[in-house]
Amino acid sequence: MRKKLIAGNWKMHHTVAGCLGYLDKFLPAISSSTDVDILLAPSYTALYPVGQKLAGHRVKLCAQNLYFKDSGAFTGEISVAMLKECACEAVIVGHSERRHVFGETDELIQEKVNAGVTGGLQVIFCIGETGAEREAGQTSEVIHRQLEQGLSGISNDMCDQLTIAYEPVWAIGTGVNATPEQAEEVHSDIRQWMGSRFGEPVAGATRIIYGGSVKPGNSAELLSKVEIDGLLVGSASLDPDSFCAIIQNLQ
Ligand code: 13P
Repeated sequence: MRKKLIAGNWKMHHTVAGCLGYLDKFLPAISSSTDVDILLAPSYTALYPVGQKLAGHRVKLCAQNLYFKDSGAFTGEISVAMLKECACEAVIVGHSERRHVFGETDELIQEKVNAGVTGGLQVIFCIGETGAEREAGQTSEVIHRQLEQGLSGISNDMCDQLTIAYEPVWAIGTGVNATPEQAEEVHSDIRQWMGSRFGEPVAGATRIIYGGSVKPGNSAELLSKVEIDGLLVGSASLDPDSFCAIIQNLQ
């Protein structure tokens, strides 16, 4: 049985003060009995203070990005060791905004997936098709290409550090979520691909989560699908009440 994962990606929102104020409301509000993993991904500048505040708490810290080199002349970049020093246990890699706004390629993303996994972080590896690709009937082809290239350096024994996030680009920040049926169809496709690449036990154990316009009003229906093992939430995670409602909808 795969444990559900609910992750909040705050993107470039919330200052340090904003993050700490959020946690003052959020941490007491989430029930400790809920059988769910929770990740929060603040901006780089807030990682250290948020990590301090989460020490010993069931909510874990996640970074939104990393660079794959250990150290060196890479102005503006952050290594795995730097993230771990801030108490990060997870990292998002290959988010559509990194791919489409910052031009990250499948090759670069593959280096980042490897660096995260070999460095001991949980990697939330994001994939998803654009609206034009879906309309052209290319969803499966795009997903397979992203999986093939992004995971080309990953071996079976590394897969327990991997979560796959299906985030259709057309659903991110648009208010139009994939229907539970659309998401489930792609999740099944991803799991089948995982089975052919890594074998059925790995495919069956890997969490595949959905992201794209998740709100308190649609989260329960999405999570009711057997293939949807959790949610990667953007804008609805920015408010502690709404993110808490999404977590509590699980029960
Ligand atoms: P929204 O929930 O704002 O659509 O963002 C989804 C996302 O990109 C999470 O990583």
